[in-house]
Amino acid sequence: MTITDIIYSRRTIKSFKADPISMEQISKWLQASTMAPNHKMTEPWEVYLVGPETRAALNHKANFFNAPVVMAVLSKHGSTEVEKAENALATACFVQNFNLIAWEEGVGTFWSSVGNAQKNREILGVQDEYDVIGVFGVGYPEEISTPKDRTSIEEKIKHLP
Ligand SMILES: Cc1cc2nc3c(=O)[nH]c(=O)nc-3n(C[C@H](O)[C@H](O)[C@H](O)COP(=O)(O)O)c2cc1C
Repeated sequence: MTITDIIYSRRTIKSFKADPISMEQISKWLQASTMAPNHKMTEPWEVYLVGPETRAALNHKANFFNAPVVMAVLSKHGSTEVEKAENALATACFVQNFNLIAWEEGVGTFWSSVGNAQKNREILGVQDEYDVIGVFGVGYPEEISTPKDRTSIEEKIKHLP
């Protein structure tokens, strides 16, 4: 698959197989994800691999669609509001790298915002100087949904003089 094929075929997964994902796979994809652009090389991402006890406490209504792996991705704030915003953007790049690399090997992700709630931040043990970019279910897809149509980019392009 070319990178273009991977980008076009990737879907959010909401139905996972029980097949396990090894720590070696996760580590390899996370390591590759660190090649994300990040201003001033702040490398703001941190990854919490969520164990069964924490996962149960998060009480996600669909249990992350039974994904075999759940991980939270955090972004460190930095010393200014600008750095905080830039770090969150860099961590989103890190996440999308992970999404695409995993997809290349047939593994999908579900990105949940559940970690933003204060109660869930406490369950995850997130310190004040971190944003939770998402909590992710990771696993082999049981089902892959049809692509959601995107607006033509022509409608989003503005030609400046
Ligand atoms: C920052 C962010 C937060 C998201 N949070 C959720 C979420 O809480 N629940 C959910 O079902 N999907 C969530 N998604 C996934 C989007 O709903 C999904 O990407 C979108 O519907 C497009 O589908 P696709 O990824 O299959 O192209 C999130 C995506 C992003 C980028």
